[in-house]
Amino acid sequence: MTMQRTRLTLNQLEETLLITLWAKALDSKLRVPMLGDTRSAEIADRIDYDFDTLKIKAALTYETALRSKKLDDAVRSFTAAHPDAVVLDLGCGLDPRMVRCRPTAGIDWYDVDFPEVVALRPQFLPEPSHLVGADVTTTDWLAGIPGDRPAMIVAEGLIPFLPGSSFQVLTHALTTHFGTGEIALNGYTRFAAWAMKYHPTIKALGITAAAGFDDPREPESWGAGLTLIDEDFLTRAPEVADWPQPLRGLTRTMSRSTALSRQGARILRYRF
Ligand SMILES: C[S@@+](CC[C@H](N)C(=O)[O-])C[C@H]1O[C@@H](n2cnc3c(N)ncnc32)[C@H](O)[C@@H]1O
Repeated sequence: MTMQRTRLTLNQLEETLLITLWAKALDSKLRVPMLGDTRSAEIADRIDYDFDTLKIKAALTYETALRSKKLDDAVRSFTAAHPDAVVLDLGCGLDPRMVRCRPTAGIDWYDVDFPEVVALRPQFLPEPSHLVGADVTTTDWLAGIPGDRPAMIVAEGLIPFLPGSSFQVLTHALTTHFGTGEIALNGYTRFAAWAMKYHPTIKALGITAAAGFDDPREPESWGAGLTLIDEDFLTRAPEVADWPQPLRGLTRTMSRSTALSRQGARILRYRF
């Protein structure tokens, strides 16, 4: 019996969720997967889309899987320390992060993305989470989320798509709404954000990336009460030992320089 595939109606910004979904699906099929997210592969199999048009190279697969794993680790350690926390996955796409992180009963998990995107989630991810259909360049949606509990806010692959100062504005709103918590994201330098527009995948989707920031301490100056906890360079992760050549050698060479490592993928964590 042939499986019925679902054709999605997404705009270009929303379609970027297919990049990360497919990268995670590809990782799950590697001999030594880093994230091992077989659910992403199952979801991708059920979508009527020619994923080859995304032109995803090995480097993007490895980087995405590793950054996702590190963000999962940040969520897991926060929720272990705060079993009454709320978790917000901003720009969640069709990411099965909640399935991977297996939150305990006292955790409330909020998946936030454009209404068209969160409306798709129950079909592919029946595990119940709170779905918030919102444009995160606005902040009124926060009113529906309890603000009196510790908050773990994760944003993977979202920042470059937030125009102008909207990420700063969002950060302010988040740290005002929640008394205490952590924000974990994959950072993009100004150069990385600029170079993204030449990335074949982003080019194929016709998207203009927003400006990034170089100094990981820059968000501390936004007046949102953020303190940098960690800047973790993927180039220096032990998992790189399993990457194929020439990616492994190139990544190891980059790892010797902080400036070069910063241009690659990095996980930034802030406390507030
Ligand atoms: C590259 S995808 C990442 C998806 C997911 N975090 C993952 O890792 O699989 C970016 C996601 O951000 C969402 N997004 C972009 N701009 C947004 C906005 N202004 N408000 C809400 N979601 C947004 C897109 O719809 C998309 O799902």
